[in-house]
Amino acid sequence: MRYFIGNWKMFGVPKSINILNKINSFHSKDKNRKKYRVIITPPYTLIETFSNNFKKKKILIGSQNCYQKEQFSSDTAAISPFMIKSVGAKYTLIGHSDNRSEGDTNSMLKNKVQFALKNNLKIVFCIGENKSEKKNNRTLIVLKNQIRKVLEKKFNRNDIIIAYEPIWSIGTGKIPTLTELTKTIIYIKKVLKNIFKKKSPPVLYGGSVDETNIKIFKEIKEIDGFLIGGASKSSKKFIDIIKNYYR
Ligand code: 13P
Repeated sequence: MRYFIGNWKMFGVPKSINILNKINSFHSKDKNRKKYRVIITPPYTLIETFSNNFKKKKILIGSQNCYQKEQFSSDTAAISPFMIKSVGAKYTLIGHSDNRSEGDTNSMLKNKVQFALKNNLKIVFCIGENKSEKKNNRTLIVLKNQIRKVLEKKFNRNDIIIAYEPIWSIGTGKIPTLTELTKTIIYIKKVLKNIFKKKSPPVLYGGSVDETNIKIFKEIKEIDGFLIGGASKSSKKFIDIIKNYYR
């Protein structure tokens, strides 16, 4: 199974559902549709409408983050996994670099993972090195720490997806080389296999994925899918990514 996840970040109003309608009509007729899953993570404000509209369709809705407490609390503007689940989301991203840079620590991330899973949300756990870590050849050690400080073998592997997003690649148009990326993905899977009884959860790549460079990424069979930012805000680009992946 492959995954094409569109992370809208701070984008979208109710009428942006048109984008999902177009993706859905492509998906419902695509001969390859059984080979992949489409998940869109709109902002919190749109989760309920989008989930209701796509309840009977194959497109799944996720959240971009969740708070590190389970149900209700007195934290202003916080939204818990329980609340996200209650409006129909099936997935949540956790640990996106945008949120790590705003202060998400490993122990906060661990609570997020725990409470999201407890509330039957599947998680997309994001990891990635920054520019200086890459320059200093620290990529693999950084990734290993990000994984091992948060994920534990007691978590159900089947509810977890990992997204490798090098921070220097997000929104920059810069992408890793084929050799670099293959090595990194294989390493991430090795670390995960050590935690989860010899079987790795799916590992996705994210960072400047578009309808052109997808032809390069598809060469790496170890990549189980993509977490797409900018290009997921256009139905045409998002559909072209899927088309070009299976071409
Ligand atoms: P871009 O595809 O815009 O580089 O964003 C990647 C990302 O951060 C998805 O979560």
